[in-house]
Amino acid sequence: MTDTANKRFYITTPIYYPSAKLHIGHTYCTTIADTVARFKRRAGYEVRFLTGSDEHGQKIQRAAEAMGITPLEYTTKIVNGFKDLWKALNISNDDFIRTTEKRHEKVVQYLFQKAYDKGDIYKSKYKGWYCTPDETFWTEQKLGPNHTCPDCGRPVEEVEEESYFFKMNKYADQWLKFIDENPDFIQPEARRNEMIQFVKQGLEDLCVSRTSFDWGIKVPFDPKHVVYVWFDALVNYISALNPLEEDKSLFEKFWPADIHLVGKEIVRFHSIIWPIMLMSLDLPIPKKVFGHGWLVVDGTKMSKSLGNVVDPIPLIDMYGSDALRYYLLSEIHLGNDGNFTLPNFVQRVNSDLANDLGNLLNRTVAMVEKYHGGVITAMPSVSEFDKDLASLAMQTVKEYETYMEAFDLNRALKTVWAFISRTNKYIDETMPWVLAKGANEGDAEKLQTVMYHLAEALRIIAVLVDPVIPTGAPKIWEQLGLAGFADAKLDDVRQWGGLPSGTKVVKGDPIYPRFEVPEMIDAPAADSALSEATATSAATEETAQEIPPIKENIEYDDFAKLDLRVAKVISCEKVKKSKKLLKFVLDVGVAERTVVSGISQYYEPESMIGKKVIYLANLAPKKLMGIESSGMILSASDFADHLEVTNIESLIPGSLVK
Ligand code: MSP
Repeated sequence: MTDTANKRFYITTPIYYPSAKLHIGHTYCTTIADTVARFKRRAGYEVRFLTGSDEHGQKIQRAAEAMGITPLEYTTKIVNGFKDLWKALNISNDDFIRTTEKRHEKVVQYLFQKAYDKGDIYKSKYKGWYCTPDETFWTEQKLGPNHTCPDCGRPVEEVEEESYFFKMNKYADQWLKFIDENPDFIQPEARRNEMIQFVKQGLEDLCVSRTSFDWGIKVPFDPKHVVYVWFDALVNYISALNPLEEDKSLFEKFWPADIHLVGKEIVRFHSIIWPIMLMSLDLPIPKKVFGHGWLVVDGTKMSKSLGNVVDPIPLIDMYGSDALRYYLLSEIHLGNDGNFTLPNFVQRVNSDLANDLGNLLNRTVAMVEKYHGGVITAMPSVSEFDKDLASLAMQTVKEYETYMEAFDLNRALKTVWAFISRTNKYIDETMPWVLAKGANEGDAEKLQTVMYHLAEALRIIAVLVDPVIPTGAPKIWEQLGLAGFADAKLDDVRQWGGLPSGTKVVKGDPIYPRFEVPEMIDAPAADSALSEATATSAATEETAQEIPPIKENIEYDDFAKLDLRVAKVISCEKVKKSKKLLKFVLDVGVAERTVVSGISQYYEPESMIGKKVIYLANLAPKKLMGIESSGMILSASDFADHLEVTNIESLIPGSLVK
């Protein structure tokens, strides 16, 4: 039994940049956090689960300017999309903080002033390099080749401006001591070692204000400066707890956070800069920063320029939020990168949700109806099979809890699914259809025992799977005829036999449908020998081929005949019976156009939806496989069979390409 007194748990996701639509990589982080939060609630904790949006900075200001709207108008629209996505994914956050909210701004200014008053912030001049997409400062020595960001590889900009600096270096020894005393603070361990190396190489003071743009929180004592976006953003974890309000109960109850869950590339900000800010501010340091891996698609990191960004909304619409959540958590071990492929996704969902779990429920409810008029009668374990099932159930609850407490969601799920398989096997072992014939004395009681054991196993399973599949889990309870699932706790399934005698099942629709598995488009990335072979031959081919010379000059008037414009993909589907063709419906600003394009071997149709491409609008229409195709989507391809569709993000459909 867990002691439920004084159990509180504060978990956060990063706050997301509203610079583009969120993709399934972002849903990965939020799904992990939501699953942990839901588990902790079932385990009797009072939980606070925070997510939000990181809305300031040069990148956002530029994107808004390009669209001719204010930064706040720009971010509000995108942030509303985040909120819709979290709703669609059944995310149970208790709060959503926007860094543009007054409650946040007040706290950032207060803490900035506090660090300044303490002498930890001083004015100087910044001369160096800045990666605007990552909002990160870099020194010349750390840059990648040709002045690129060492993290993301994109070009950096030279910056020279008066700035305030935060005395990071002053706290380097204190940080190393803290890490030594709190070895579990950074996880997984490999990240911890990287961070220690980083600090041991020497910390530079951090530039914490900018003057060359104004979309940010003003430095309270020098308003021509805005606070550096990371100093601003990290404070969200505290500002959302209203520390400056008269009622400080949230802050007092939940700070320090139990876990900041972040992607591996931002562990540095959370595990070095953030604790040092807190040291300077004399505030308690969170208990853990967990750096999860990235979700890659068909073996490649998602990026707009590669055109392999998978939009979660069409996936959720088609397969349901539980399917996406289950896949992300069961397929990927938390610290590692994971690979998403649509066929693998559908296969997993069919086999684990529809077959293993869904069928177990269907069969159980159908048999209880058929054999016992829907009524379950409590019966003790008698046979070896019964005893084995009951004892595995109890062991499963324990192991599951241990794994979940250690944030090893992947193993926790494996444990539960092993129990689900065991329960399915129990049906085959006990053969209820034979018992129902009543050939032997005692068969009637045995049949009741089997039905009770199946239903009780499902009652326990429902509580264990709920954190990851919160749409389907309550339906298991409903079909078993139980009420009050919202209040069910882990404590309610720690003992076998909690299902009351006389419960009447309520047959319902299958909780998870089966889907047709789409064809594999690329070589499976998991098959490393195969992908390595492909990569090598591609590379050889690439160097063997000559790049063609530039064609003969044309006049500008020739070029001007082309009507090139930005178009947004409204829908995209495979053309039936064609291996190569995709059918697109495009928003081209003034009309909708249908285009057929031979790029099916390079892109999943779902990944194209929402993408903005460059479109040649005045190419004479042509019929392809019976479909009238108007115009052409521009793409580039090399000689190693790589193809990328052009991708423009911040312009509206109809914008002219000149
Ligand atoms: N705004 C900052 C975070 C500030 S927190 C005080 C930021 N935003 S982000 O939108 O770029 O990224 C948010 C999170 O999404 C990061 O943790 C990042 O690792 C995660 N992911 C983005 N792409 C991802 C994958 N492909 N896979 C998994 N997570 C990924 O950074």
